[in-house]
Order: sequence, then structure tokens, then C-alpha cells
Amino acid sequence: MSDEVKKGLMGIVVDETTISQVMPEINSLTYRGYKVQDLCEKCTFEEVAYLVLNGELPKKSELKKFISEERKNRKLSKQILDDIVKMPKRAHPMDVVRTAVSLMGLEDRDTSNNSPKANMKKAMRIFAQTPTAVAAFFRARRGKKIIKPDSKLSYSENFFKMMFGKVPNKDIVKAFDVSMILYAEHSFNVSTFTARTITSSLSDMHGAITGAIASLKGPLHGGANEAVMYMFKEIKKPEKAAAWINNALDKKKVIMGFGHRVYRSGDSRVPTMKKYFMKVAELVKNNNYPKIYEILERVMLEKKNIHPNVDYPCGPTYSLMGIDTDFFTPIFVMARITGWSAHIMEQHAANKLIRPLSKYKGSDHREVLALNIR
Ligand code: COA
Repeated sequence: MSDEVKKGLMGIVVDETTISQVMPEINSLTYRGYKVQDLCEKCTFEEVAYLVLNGELPKKSELKKFISEERKNRKLSKQILDDIVKMPKRAHPMDVVRTAVSLMGLEDRDTSNNSPKANMKKAMRIFAQTPTAVAAFFRARRGKKIIKPDSKLSYSENFFKMMFGKVPNKDIVKAFDVSMILYAEHSFNVSTFTARTITSSLSDMHGAITGAIASLKGPLHGGANEAVMYMFKEIKKPEKAAAWINNALDKKKVIMGFGHRVYRSGDSRVPTMKKYFMKVAELVKNNNYPKIYEILERVMLEKKNIHPNVDYPCGPTYSLMGIDTDFFTPIFVMARITGWSAHIMEQHAANKLIRPLSKYKGSDHREVLALNIR
């Protein structure tokens, strides 16, 4: 057995999957064989969530049932809502949503049941309730009354209503829906691998998703969409963008929203999200962000030959929708629950405990001497 260390598991294939395929050679991403760009243009997020979870696009009757289940399951218990309202206002919303999913596990009647049927039911409940938890903290932190879910509205429309009390223009809702489709699934990234690792000990779905949320929070993963926005806010004006990025690169800083472990010549999700970002900016009459966007993208390509990843257009898009910056990654959570749940179910279906080896570099074997004990 080779004891060569593969830091970050770089280049290691750890399992098989039928959920999504990332093809860096052709900058492509498919969910269950369908190109993500086509799914964005031709489907709603609910249809894609069904596809990711079930393996096929839904027939009309299947979609109707799925939508009805999602709408029926949106409410959180009074206890969890009260807990969210009482959480420290200074807490990061990612920590709140991580705790909320953990709390859901305390109440769920199927928490410890890992059968495929129970797992699908739990996936639906976590999928439907998480937006309610995110919106509840968003409003509680602003000292505003919680808005109940509205079962007449689609997933994305309902989220806007619970956040702001109203549903915006349909193009804004579509841009949000597209971001959810693009964030839904991305093979063995760190949070998904975390979920699969937790599952591999035959632990439960709530625990696996709680762990995955903690992993997604990091700025090298989902937390990048939030970090991108802090960068845009620091730059403020397009006139300052070139000097800012040149200076940051001279100081060898890592620029958030750029680079990717798998895609080396462009993230397949960026062109679609960029198109919707530009549309939203036009609708809300913001010229600054698109200009800053183009300048940073150009300089990163010229100087480093590094392309943006999907977090780069998502950050400013959410900001233009009126969403607080630290809520961007919790929104990513809402979408990725579909991918995580599908991977958890796939892991259960063909499980093998995940347990890699390490190369020991500590002290040589030594004896405990009485003298050493104080
Ligand atoms: N800004 C500046 N330089 C970057 C960079 C970035 N965003 N991403 C990669 N690089 C540079 C590295 O410094 C390194 O340069 P070096 O060879 O001179 O040391 C080189 O490109 C290779 O990068 P590396 O860190 O080895 O790639 P990785 O696969 O380990 O990292 C990321 C991938 C995503 C962690 C990395 O690109 C990054 O930190 N990006 C910013 C965070 C982000 O947007 N994350 C969301 C990912 S979807």
C-alpha cells in the first residue's frame, strides 16, 4: 500500500455517483444527465429539486404531488420559531440555520429511521422548512414580525414573501430560481463529502445536513458568495476596481469568487448566472456592480488566468435583491439541501464506512517515565 499523501484528497476518486457530473474539460455540469444551463432555462427550481432527489424529471402528476408536499411542509413548530426569534442577533445566520436543522431533528418522528422511504420524507421536510427558518431569523434580527409561509406561492415566491412581505417582479423571482438551480448540486464538493462521511457511519440525515452546513460556511466553499460582496462593498466605485484588485494581487491575496478545485478554465454555471445578474442590475438600475464585476473578471484573467466561480455573480445578485450579505450562504444551503439529501440516500444505498489513513509524523515511540509526571 502506497503511503503517498494526497493533500485535500486532490485527484482521488472516492466513490461512484449518478447524481451529477462535473466535466472540467468541456466546462460542463449535468444533473442526472441534463445540462444545468438547459434546466435553468426550461425548468422551475421545484422541477429540478424533484430531478435531483428522484433521478428523473417529474411527470405532471408527480410534480403536482411534489409541490403540494413542499407547500404542506413549510411550517416550523412554534417551539423552533420561538427558539429562532430568541437566538442572539449577533449570531451568523449560517450558525442559526445549522442549529435550526439540528432542532428539526429533535422533533422529526423519523430522525433515526434511515430507510429510503423515511429519508425521502425527511429530505422533503428539511427542504420545505429551511427557507422558513432563514426568513424568520432575517426578520427577527430586523425586529420585524415573522411572516407565515404562503401555500399559494411557488418556492421562490414564498421565500421573498416571508423575507420582505411581498413578491417582487417575475424577472427577479426567475433570477433567484436560477441561482437555486445552479446551487442545487455539484458532486463531491467538501460539504457533500462531509454529508456522505457522516452518513457512512450510519448516522442520520439531520446530522449529516447539519455537518454539511458547517462545512459550507467556510469562505473556501459556500462562504465565498458572502466574501465576494464584502469585496464589492470595499471597492465601492468602478473607478477604484482596477487599482484595488492589482494591489490585492500584488499582496498575494486570495480573491474571493475566483478559482475552483475542479474547473480550471471556467465554471460552467457562471455564464448563466452572470446573464441573470446583469438582468437584475438593469431592472434595479444599478450600473456600479456590473462595472466592478467586469473589471475584476478581466484583471483576474489577464494577470492570473483564473476564472470566476458561481459565487462571483451570485453575491451581487442577492445584494441587489435586498438580501443582507450574511444571508447569502444560508440561501445556498436552501438549494444544496436537495443535493446533500440525494447524496445521503445514495450513500445509504451502497454504504461503506469512510475511513482514510494518515501518515504519522509525530514523536517516535517513547516510554512514560515517573520523572515526567508532574
Ligand atoms: N485568488 C488569487 N489566487 C488564486 C485564487 C484566487 N481566488 N485561486 C487560486 N489562486 C492561485 C493560488 O494562490 C495558487 O497560486 P500558486 O500556485 O502561485 O500558489 C494557484 O492559483 C492554484 O490554486 P490552489 O489554491 O492550489 O487551488 P485549489 O484547488 O487548492 O483551490 C479554491 C481552489 C476554490 C480553494 C481557490 O481557488 C480559492 O481559494 N478561491 C477563492 C474562494 C472561493 O471563491 N471559493 C468558492 C469555490 S466555488
